[in-house]
Amino acid sequence: MKKRVLSGMQASGRLHLGNLVGALANWVRIQDQYECFYFVADWHALTSGYAEPGLIKESAMDLLVNFMAAGLDPEKATIFIQSMTPEHTELHLILSMITPLGWLERVPTYKEKREEIKDKDLSTYGFLGYPVLQSADILIYRADYVPVGVDQLPHLEITREIARRFNSLYNTEFMVEPDGLLTEFPKVPGVDGRKMSKSYGNAIYLSDPPDVAETKIRTMMTDPARKRRTDVGNPEICPVYHLHKIFSSQDEKDWVVKGCTTAGIGCIECKKVLFKNIKTVLEPIWEKRQELLKNPSSLLEMAREGSRKASAAARETLDGIKDALGWIR
Ligand code: TRP
Ligand code: SF4
Repeated sequence: MKKRVLSGMQASGRLHLGNLVGALANWVRIQDQYECFYFVADWHALTSGYAEPGLIKESAMDLLVNFMAAGLDPEKATIFIQSMTPEHTELHLILSMITPLGWLERVPTYKEKREEIKDKDLSTYGFLGYPVLQSADILIYRADYVPVGVDQLPHLEITREIARRFNSLYNTEFMVEPDGLLTEFPKVPGVDGRKMSKSYGNAIYLSDPPDVAETKIRTMMTDPARKRRTDVGNPEICPVYHLHKIFSSQDEKDWVVKGCTTAGIGCIECKKVLFKNIKTVLEPIWEKRQELLKNPSSLLEMAREGSRKASAAARETLDGIKDALGWIR
């Protein structure tokens, strides 16, 4: 029996190169090895984006297209949309009854987001319960592993705590405590050198047309010491070089270091080579996206089919949970 994997992405913006390298590419790599469930977390987007549900729909479609374009295969993995899989809500409700408020209030992402996001009112019941919903997503498939970035570890920890609490309250071992499956990939910097993020406006999106991606790279920040072509630079403080580290060959990286520190190459050349390598990664995705976007209704049908499969698996777990609770069913 293959171990079960579950992971999701919140539908609150378009997918970018950082998400691809840091998460999605890994999802694709492991889809043969495990029984995988991958989903678009549109309800999670609603916890903070409830005032603009239309944006969530757009983002959900963007995620779905990119999941497929990047190589997730519905023959191998179950690909679905959270809101088409209503079992998650039922478990969310049950778990909300047993989750102490204090656990939620001390989740670091909760405090950070409350301070960071000022343009939305996040003092809602649903937003505080974000990790409970995430726990329901995971526990409803009795997942063994959850591939996530380090930023999601507090959510995984609370999932484990909720699973333990359930098991001890109801004297059962039914809930499976999941482990993280950490991707070792370095953080992808954005065009300004900070972590690539939609909120910094520094991202290269999978939906960017090739010429837009090229312009973003051509106009990237570099080592400010290289004002003129003859000035030497320090690649370690240049975001272009940090992207080379992820996308370029050893020879190319050596070429950058040598050329930059001796003013043997110019920033324009350096960026051209970077774009060539990023293009190699993105070109097949761009092509597949074009093809998929010709027929959005068949994409949705695929998601509905995946959601039906996910529902069936989730329903089995809910039955087990009701039995553990000694509940009518
Ligand atoms: N919180 C995750 C994010 O920000 C999305 C998510 C929702 C998720 N439910 C999950 C991730 C369950 C892993 C497992 O993208
Ligand atoms: Fe950055 Fe390359 Fe210019 Fe050096 S040559 S400053 S690494 S863009």
